[in-house]
Amino acid sequence: MIKAIPKRNRRYGVDGVGEASSSSSSQDHQRRLPNLSESSLFFKDDDLVGIEDGKKQLLDWLTDKEESQRTVISVVGMGGSGKTTLVAQAYNSQILKRQFDCYAWITVSQTYVVNDLLRSMIKEFYGGAKEAIPMDLSSMSYRELIEMITDFLRLKRYVIVFDDVWSSNLWRDIHVSLLDEGLGSWVILTTPNEEIASSSFGVKSYVHYIKLLGVTDAWNLFCMKAFSSNPNRCCPQHLKTLAQDLVAKCKGLPLAIVALGGVMPSKYLELEWRKIYNSLSWELSNNPGLEVVKTILLLSFNDLPYRLNCCFLYCCLFPEDYKIKRKRLIRLWMAEGFIEKVRGRTPEEVAESYLMELICRSMLQVVMRNELGRPKNYKMHDLMRELAISTSETEKFCVIYDG
Ligand SMILES: Nc1ncnc2c1ncn2[C@@H]1O[C@H](COP(=O)(O)OP(=O)(O)O)[C@@H](O)[C@H]1O
Ligand SMILES: [Mg+2]
Repeated sequence: MIKAIPKRNRRYGVDGVGEASSSSSSQDHQRRLPNLSESSLFFKDDDLVGIEDGKKQLLDWLTDKEESQRTVISVVGMGGSGKTTLVAQAYNSQILKRQFDCYAWITVSQTYVVNDLLRSMIKEFYGGAKEAIPMDLSSMSYRELIEMITDFLRLKRYVIVFDDVWSSNLWRDIHVSLLDEGLGSWVILTTPNEEIASSSFGVKSYVHYIKLLGVTDAWNLFCMKAFSSNPNRCCPQHLKTLAQDLVAKCKGLPLAIVALGGVMPSKYLELEWRKIYNSLSWELSNNPGLEVVKTILLLSFNDLPYRLNCCFLYCCLFPEDYKIKRKRLIRLWMAEGFIEKVRGRTPEEVAESYLMELICRSMLQVVMRNELGRPKNYKMHDLMRELAISTSETEKFCVIYDG
């Protein structure tokens, strides 16, 4: 059950839908807008760094013609290290598409309901094969769902991804549905938990450990985000030393790098950069218990323009890994009164600019785009959502009760 705390509008200064705001942070926000080029939203392959070796390793396994047993690959790495990104790259590659009869991508998350996972598998497999999805899925029992999947997979070579596995029970719960017909099918798991990755699945298995980014890749990724509007996305000479010191603090973790990089385009002066550097150093040395990535995510939250705070926090009300539809989110923000009135622009346009800013700051991720490349669905990274939930609670913005 989700319970939004009343009076939050007053607390966040959003009472009176569309009231003009004269806060300095709002002006700040307007000042930034023209700087964000729309094209920087779209996550292109060339925005990825250091992914080739990992992708090659996965594809070498997946396309191994000698392999006839059903085999498991576990991709293991801490939150924000790029597991989902790497596996998605291999999964979507054209080489793979030619090798298998059917595919499924299942996001598992920390809490899951087995029958819901089985239903998602049916939808993915049937949908991918352009077969009609049975109407009565919701009333089917565990056994019926399993039968439906095994019937579908008979004599098919498949690849299935279970993204973000936190429980060692998952394999026990679903493996009976995954037929092994000696055709060389693959099951890929991503997990932050090394024990799960190296557990015995009772079948042949491989483990791929995510490598954190090396100095050059980390630097290139940071520059892509921080200097997205500069020619060649290059770092100006006078900021170079400071920028390199900042990147070093991210310890090669992609999520930390993109979040920190996303904060910087609004900073023009060396003074502003130094302020960020000092505050990050202070937090890291005074809060040694807090992981580096969480410290950086908190910094990027604290740097948000005032109006975007509640828009960001609001997104944690959606369940973990939920695909949030753009139009729906915009309407909800408008109904809550989070969108300020800007002369000459419709509330939808202003809301779009908020979305764009949250994406440029990597606080929301684009999961799907329409034919024109325009973002359609968004997701909050689970670490980002954890931050939003805990901040929402302390700030008395909203509380989420599980169960
Ligand atoms: N190789 C990479 N190159 C560029 N950015 C990356 C790379 N890997 C991850 N990222 C960035 O880090 C974010 C978190 O990565 P993700 O794959 O979701 O991590 P995980 O699944 O391990 O938690 C992504 O949204 C993306 O912005
Ligand atoms: Mg992930």
